[in-house]
Amino acid sequence: MERAGDVAVIGAGLIGLGIAFELASRGATVRVYERGEPARAASWAGAGMLAPYSESTGDEQMLALGAQSLSRYPEFVDRVRAASGIDPHLHLDGIVSAAFDEERLRELRAHAQALARRGVDCELLDRESTLAAEPALARTVLGALLRRSEGYVDNRRLGRALVAACEAKGVTIVRSATDVAVEADARRVLGVRSHLGFTPASYVVVAAGAWSASVPGIPTQFAPAVRPVKGQMLALAAPVGFLKRTTWIPGAYLVPREDGRLLVGATMEDAGFDERVTGSGLRTLLDAVHMGAPSLLDFAVTEVWAGLRPGTPDGRPLIGPTPIEGLILATGHYRNGILLTPVTAAYVADCIERGDAEALAPWLRMTTA
Ligand code: GLY
Repeated sequence: MERAGDVAVIGAGLIGLGIAFELASRGATVRVYERGEPARAASWAGAGMLAPYSESTGDEQMLALGAQSLSRYPEFVDRVRAASGIDPHLHLDGIVSAAFDEERLRELRAHAQALARRGVDCELLDRESTLAAEPALARTVLGALLRRSEGYVDNRRLGRALVAACEAKGVTIVRSATDVAVEADARRVLGVRSHLGFTPASYVVVAAGAWSASVPGIPTQFAPAVRPVKGQMLALAAPVGFLKRTTWIPGAYLVPREDGRLLVGATMEDAGFDERVTGSGLRTLLDAVHMGAPSLLDFAVTEVWAGLRPGTPDGRPLIGPTPIEGLILATGHYRNGILLTPVTAAYVADCIERGDAEALAPWLRMTTA
């Protein structure tokens, strides 16, 4: 990979690690700087939902990007598993959106028609079929939409697998890095400065999630407009299979794991960098469970946590080269970072390897902090 020279990635979340893995697989020399431990923060805190259709806000280009990334997931996970020996537990067995009132049922019918026109595999379930599919739902459920191609990945396992896969491919991960800063002149990037001193790089990729706006050394006019959007979550210890598929209920989503944990998420809070778990945050989640799947409240709460999504003003990620030659953004993935990891990794690697930034055109706008 002659063109690349050395690549530095700032941030070892799934996005940064995914890019490093992709580039190293193509022969680049890659160094990743992480101020804490890799694959933590939002990459660890998320539920791992792979839900481009059920998370859709009506933004067609986002939907297409999410669908593109979803279609890449099986092959991406196969490569990560092969390089790391760790199975990230990918489940593409569908996501259920449950309706508890007529208005929601109408919305789901309209969504089903729109998805069918796109050729997306989905099915409207009546009340009986919904309860047969997910007996944990409240008897007051009226019906549901099952989007068959969606699912989840165990993002904590994927994080561990990506760390191992990167290291197996020769990526250097600098853990607990301090004083990390981009070094650039007015025209091009020079490298990264950290507690280890200055290390030159031909490309520097900023993938620092919610912290991306404050990475020192990015010229102010190109600093990405990313802000933290807090999400609180909890885990219940339920028997394996008690909930079969990822399920949306009003006010929350429920995501199963192979080890029996059942995740309940997540709040949406504008709380700066506050990562505390609060009584009101947990109450919001538990109220939703009480209404949508009350039998779950009999299980033990085994974990509570919070994470910070990297939000942007228009809800779209910021991916692609800046006017500073060699300085590339890969951040602002908001609610979809885990879903968008494979496509972001591939597009950023194409951009560095071949100078091919065509696919990144919609994601390149300079919305600065
Ligand atoms: N994608 C789910 C969330 O951000 O809460």
